[in-house]
Amino acid sequence: MSSPSTEREEMQPVDILIDQGAISARIDELGRQITADYADQAPVVVGVLKGCIVFLADLIRAIKLPLELEFITAASYRHGDTRETEIILGGPVAIPLKDRHVLLIEGVVDSGRTVSRILDHVRLMEPASVEVVTMIDKPASHRTEIDVKYKGFTIGNEFVIGYGLDNTQQYRNLPFVGRVIDR
Ligand code: IMP
Ligand code: MG
Repeated sequence: MSSPSTEREEMQPVDILIDQGAISARIDELGRQITADYADQAPVVVGVLKGCIVFLADLIRAIKLPLELEFITAASYRHGDTRETEIILGGPVAIPLKDRHVLLIEGVVDSGRTVSRILDHVRLMEPASVEVVTMIDKPASHRTEIDVKYKGFTIGNEFVIGYGLDNTQQYRNLPFVGRVIDR
């Protein structure tokens, strides 16, 4: 048999920043808070792919309300070496958001540009309300005025991976939030 054309990429060693127990406990708290804040409502949860997926899967099970689930994709592209990034949205939202209470679920808010772009898009659909929920917030990195109502954890300006978050599409399946250690 011929050898595979691509070598399997080795993962770098990682450091645990937020362990599974801490994430789970925090998600339970967020779930209780959202359940109380949206009592008697049936919110539409809109996940921002792909970073949201692990956090979202846990969070929706901690929200004790009828809810509907929708996804949107967001990808940012940097133009050459300028600081300009273009954010392309995809995944048409099939559930009408007009007059609905929308919860936008993110894995991480860094500069805030992605969430801000999605908020503009969602607001055009005239929802009754829209709030942002993120597993990780990096307030010191925000470059735009955004109100993140629900956040799991606040960290400094550092790059983290795991629990849905990637570095070049790897590490999303780690059951904790960590950092890659340089060798
Ligand atoms: P923004 O700067 O808030 O628009 O974030 C853009 C995107 O960068 C996020 O949705 C993530 O995909 C990615 N990103 C930002 N910070 C991190 C991180 O610490 N780990 C993994 N991905 C990140
Ligand atoms: Mg990424």
